[in-house]
Amino acid sequence: MPELSTKRVFVTREHIIPEAIASLRQSVDVEVWSERSAPPRDVFLRKARESDGMITEITDLVDKELLDQAPRLKVVANRAVGMDNIDIGEATAHGVFVSNTPGVLHESCADFTFGLMLSVARNITYGDRRIREGEWKVFDQIPYLGTDVHGATLGIIGMGLIGTAVVRRAQAFDMKVIYFSRNRKPEVEKQLGVEWRPDMDDLLAESDFVSLHVPLTAETQRIIGKRELELMQPHSFLINTTRGPTVDPGALYEAVKTGQIAGAALDVTDPEPIPFDDPLLSLPNVVISPHIASASSSTVRKMGELTAQNVIGALSGTAMPSCVNPEAAANR
Ligand code: GLV
Repeated sequence: MPELSTKRVFVTREHIIPEAIASLRQSVDVEVWSERSAPPRDVFLRKARESDGMITEITDLVDKELLDQAPRLKVVANRAVGMDNIDIGEATAHGVFVSNTPGVLHESCADFTFGLMLSVARNITYGDRRIREGEWKVFDQIPYLGTDVHGATLGIIGMGLIGTAVVRRAQAFDMKVIYFSRNRKPEVEKQLGVEWRPDMDDLLAESDFVSLHVPLTAETQRIIGKRELELMQPHSFLINTTRGPTVDPGALYEAVKTGQIAGAALDVTDPEPIPFDDPLLSLPNVVISPHIASASSSTVRKMGELTAQNVIGALSGTAMPSCVNPEAAANR
């Protein structure tokens, strides 16, 4: 087994995963970036050159430029399930193992998806905003009449662990669930009674709520644009907890503004953070949160533990719990 104490690991945010950092420090030499924002690119590149492993956040870009300069680097453990900040093909070609954090955050993300759905459909956030603006002056429910979530049709795009966890919650709300996914999931259909739609257009036309659960890839970039929003019903809502660029924000603004759809709830935006003067923020029937679907204390701690286990696995040559490119070994 390689001598671990000589290995250097750079963590791009100290404050997010202190327990994982403490546990890593027992076996490897850990350096941390202690500011709350990401290290500047030049610092990140230098640290990549000097490190055997890195723990990254979704805003840290791991691309060919970085990998070309980092011959010592063996592992990048992303503290996220999504990996669109990492060029996996290049990492593999450079013999760098990449890991993510599946299996520990799907329940928290599914809770949050329901929170967003209820919030936008039942005007929870809108009501709160109006109260803080000093606008609750009389007992009058009519400006806040919402749409029922129970009994509605939920269309899920992308049926991975998070999508499946959303389905389980939808069952308790007596919802009909339909889904579109590149790979059909007969097991989920059988166990949870969901129906597959081979054509995403049909799902969009049929759903009262459309919820996105696909990773961001070239294929899913702007998977929801003007045409797709036009297929949705005027009483329907779009929920996005995956990545902002899956939705065309200009088209979404127009669709909500003109009543093409009833509203949207977004935990992710394009760009992030969303600028204060973004037109979407002017729409009362849009709820936006700052990319926090997985952010419960317990889940963030588990994500940290998993990244640390992946780093130790890679650097010690033992198993990595969630390596996405084991084939990188052939290029080391
Ligand atoms: C968060 O966005 C994640 O991908 O885990």
